[in-house]
Amino acid sequence: MDMDIVTAMGKNNIINFLSYYNFKNTTINKIMQLFSHCAFKNPISIDLHSHLLPGIDDGVSTLEESLTIIKKFKSLGYTKLIITPHIISDSYPNTKEIIQKKLLEVQEALKKEQIDIEIEAAAEYYVDMNFLKLIEKDELIPFSGKYLLFETSYLSKPLILEKAIFDMQAKGYIPVLAHPERYRYMYNDIDYYMKLKSLGVLFQMNTKSLRNTSSPVYKMALKLIELGVIDFIGSDAHRIHDVVTLERIISERVYKNIFEKNNILNMFKLI
Ligand SMILES: [Fe+2]
Repeated sequence: MDMDIVTAMGKNNIINFLSYYNFKNTTINKIMQLFSHCAFKNPISIDLHSHLLPGIDDGVSTLEESLTIIKKFKSLGYTKLIITPHIISDSYPNTKEIIQKKLLEVQEALKKEQIDIEIEAAAEYYVDMNFLKLIEKDELIPFSGKYLLFETSYLSKPLILEKAIFDMQAKGYIPVLAHPERYRYMYNDIDYYMKLKSLGVLFQMNTKSLRNTSSPVYKMALKLIELGVIDFIGSDAHRIHDVVTLERIISERVYKNIFEKNNILNMFKLI
């Protein structure tokens, strides 16, 4: 079947049409099998990890941009977004107060525009000395009351990484490593991924890491999916094009594989 016709009719409509007219016909059943993956419904309705609070990190810069992206998430069936601004002492020294004030601004704008979607704010912590101090003072913004999203340099493993993990756990939090597929210092050391898992670290994979099939990030994402070690899926949306990419990836087979091989915790409700 010509793909332009498929696009014009809508893939789900074609499946419904075929089902209605001749469910038992072998040929039609074969065609239905070919298109069965198109009927896949995104099981994620809570997005975890984005930069949609305006003007406080490298994410959106205006309230208008923020609302446009949030509306796009809603159109894709998302009911809740957990927004995670960067906290990096050198470049984005955000505090709990700054983040909560911005969250309120966006929540009020959503209410005014009658956009019915829940938003929560946490943070994406960069592992540095400032992060250790924040843990010590327990001045942290977890998501769902107990999880802390953190990231490291892409190039080299911080000497304090395992101390940071231990300190987070000692305060009663569950550490969640943002986009594990992006850390080049771990690419030749799959055992280190397994070590982090054995220490109790959960992994949040970025959907947008699946956009470029020739990139090393994509290859590592596939490996982690196959190993069944992914715990959360997130968009890491900074701009509208990230959500457009998300919409495309949701319809691809590789996205469906994630749920067949991993126990994802942010599907319809957050566990
Ligand atoms: Fe991020």
